[in-house]
Amino acid sequence: MAVAGSAVGLGNFLRFPVQAAQNGGGAFMVPYILAMLLLGIPLAWVEWTMGRYGGQHQHGGGPGVFHRLTGGKPWAKYLGIITIFIPLCITFYYIYIETWTLSFAFFSLTGQYQDAVAAHEMDKFLAGFMGAESNKYFDGPWTAISIFSIVFALNYWVLYKGISGGIEKLSKIGMPILFVCGIILAVRVLTLGSPVAEHPDWNVNNALGFMWNPDWSRLDEAKVWIAAAGQIFFTLSVGMGCIMTYASYLKSRDDVALSGLTATSANEFAEVVLGGSIAVVAAAVFFGVAGAQEIAKQGSFNLGFVTMPYIFAQMGGEGLIGFIWFILLFVAGVTSSVSLIEPLVTFLKDELNMTRGKAIFATGLVNLFITGFIIATIKHGTLDEMDFWAGSVLPVVSGLIMVLIFNIYLGIDKGWDEMHHGALIQIPKFYKFIIRFITPAYLILLLTFWAIQEWWPIATMQGVEADKASWISITRLVMAGFLVLLVYWVWKADKQGKFPKLHKEAK
Ligand code: PFF
Repeated sequence: MAVAGSAVGLGNFLRFPVQAAQNGGGAFMVPYILAMLLLGIPLAWVEWTMGRYGGQHQHGGGPGVFHRLTGGKPWAKYLGIITIFIPLCITFYYIYIETWTLSFAFFSLTGQYQDAVAAHEMDKFLAGFMGAESNKYFDGPWTAISIFSIVFALNYWVLYKGISGGIEKLSKIGMPILFVCGIILAVRVLTLGSPVAEHPDWNVNNALGFMWNPDWSRLDEAKVWIAAAGQIFFTLSVGMGCIMTYASYLKSRDDVALSGLTATSANEFAEVVLGGSIAVVAAAVFFGVAGAQEIAKQGSFNLGFVTMPYIFAQMGGEGLIGFIWFILLFVAGVTSSVSLIEPLVTFLKDELNMTRGKAIFATGLVNLFITGFIIATIKHGTLDEMDFWAGSVLPVVSGLIMVLIFNIYLGIDKGWDEMHHGALIQIPKFYKFIIRFITPAYLILLLTFWAIQEWWPIATMQGVEADKASWISITRLVMAGFLVLLVYWVWKADKQGKFPKLHKEAK
């Protein structure tokens, strides 16, 4: 349930519908399902298995797991840092977006954005709120910052309560709420009919057609395949280190095979069935297919925080539907952000012998500092820059590292046995072949194409004007600073004898 909570997040309700609508509608599902079967599910099993294995050896984070699995290779513990670096970098901005969802839930109830909706200025309202500009709606990000402190405190309070008293409880309460909200919204949207009297063709049928009718011609574009794989990584939380950390708390005979599959299934129901029936479908019902196309082009934030409030205003119901939408996003966000923070907490606790309280304090301090930087500089594109690296580039690299370490050091046969230790299902044998050859090859192919088509121009800031370029460089420096801190911590843990030389038997 906790891993499902990590997986089901803002990505399911905002990122997925935009990606699908932009990349061929129903046709997007072909590369998407392939990526799920060949990358997402095998990587989830690998990560669950590696995490539980590390936990058996008193290591609950990438550095310790990689050290143990490689038989004590000196570089392995440093390579393992990637599984803490990625989730924390995502945390630094994700938790701020979570703040918007809670704030907008309040605003829905109190009618605070109604004037902006009436004046067709929701984009201004959002920009003012997040601190990208000062305007008549907000004079600086002060409202956002005060609600941020509540969201921040809630996250760390849940973490302080521990794995079973905090994260597990949150998941048990949050996940049912989330599914109930999602189902209410999907049913509401699917029963809208054709609410705009002048446009009878703006109806649910045509909207679903827009979302799902396959445009097969799009399948020859590499971009569509890359987008599908990127979505699978982000939505399933694989390759990031969160699943590894959660799994390290399992007992040696707790199942990982079925659990990996059920967490994935829960995520896919929330993403394809619910996420695919709410935001973009509603947009096409109220703004027509051409309008929805425009909206999808403007990205997820625009869809969730600008377009949806217009739609809620036309649905009536005194802000209740808007409240349900933003609470849905908030609950989805919180169960994900605690999973993003936990890898560093677990690392500090297991490898630097900190108490849970101290580990949380240290993590929180770093988080406050860097999120503060993001909030103060959001108008310069710092959030997007961090998301580019942590949300799309590095997970693929880290997923490749994980599957390679699994195959090369644990070995597929031993790894397969380990995966089936206490398993409640038998994984089909051909997955042995997939994990060994297909998943790594698919990832290498993806990285190569992606590097040529997208990363290189962005990484080298081609065509970016000087002012923006300097903020991008500063963001990279902040991330590098965080990386140095993690390297220092691993080095310190090593000095304290946490990564000893392993004897042959231990290997
Ligand atoms: N899977 C989450 C979403 O779809 O919003 C986001 C996320 C959580 C990404 C945890 C990565 C992660 F490790």
